[in-house]
Amino acid sequence: METKELFVPISLESIEPVIFPDVALYIKTGGNYVLYKNNGRDFSAHDHERLSKHGVEFVFVSKNDMDVITSYMEEAAERLLKGDTLTSRAKGKMIYQTSINFVDDIFNNPEKSTDLNRTRRLIENLMLYLSDEPDAISSLETVMLHNYHTFVHSLQVASLSLLMHSEAYSLSRDEMLDVGTGAILHDFGKIFVPQGILNKNGKLNETEIEILKRHPEEGFVYLQNKGVLTPVALSIVRFHHERCNGSGYPLGLENNEIPRSAQVTGIADVYCTLTTDHHGNKTMPPHVAVQIMENQMNGLFSPHLLGTLEKLVCTEEVQQFIL
Ligand SMILES: [Fe+2]
Repeated sequence: METKELFVPISLESIEPVIFPDVALYIKTGGNYVLYKNNGRDFSAHDHERLSKHGVEFVFVSKNDMDVITSYMEEAAERLLKGDTLTSRAKGKMIYQTSINFVDDIFNNPEKSTDLNRTRRLIENLMLYLSDEPDAISSLETVMLHNYHTFVHSLQVASLSLLMHSEAYSLSRDEMLDVGTGAILHDFGKIFVPQGILNKNGKLNETEIEILKRHPEEGFVYLQNKGVLTPVALSIVRFHHERCNGSGYPLGLENNEIPRSAQVTGIADVYCTLTTDHHGNKTMPPHVAVQIMENQMNGLFSPHLLGTLEKLVCTEEVQQFIL
């Protein structure tokens, strides 16, 4: 049986002195957690300096304090990403941290099925993998700095894509890591799309649409040249806008010509876009989005995979986590 860890590591670099929530902080020495400061006293710039001088990379907080830490970090993420108080490495670590908190929130429900448990661990591993891969994490950082919302969307799509893979297929841990990596980077090519087009209020004109439609191919070419992603991950980046009836892009592939994981990620992408706006607000209930995809987007998606989506998101315990 798995022992529940009572402390959660927080990267020291991601902590802003003084404004960090007032919770007890611990450090780990010789395998034990030792109280560093109790609540009621600020974590000062001096504390920060002293710990980093001693080579401390992580401090620890009680699992019971994670709610307040998570909301602080999610609130602070965009501001810190756009500011210049943190180094790029620290920003990467902070996003890694918030991702883990976020993913933890998504899946941390008593009613979760064994598949969800399994998927949570896999996503945690995925993020660990990304943080261990210098090229992968720098790719992620570039996306984050370019467009914060793209990152949040990417994380949602990756989570749902992994859940769908877990529901529909029996994949190895390595295959799940490939899928998660491809899904989280699916819109990487948007770094080549001008901000004016990405953030435009109102309808795009034909030229702008053409430019936007280049993002799968441009992301694919760039990441392929980097040489760190597997063919499965690359195919998700390249083909997530292909549709079963051949109406998609860049190649207009049909049905089984579209790699399976790209189909799954494409469905997850459309579902997340329908149900969540640019600010992360819910825009429609899960079953309405699924109905739209089944009836009004007839022929675009595999009926089998739509069934997998429906099974996942229209189950009461699950739907709240996806959004
Ligand atoms: Fe896309």
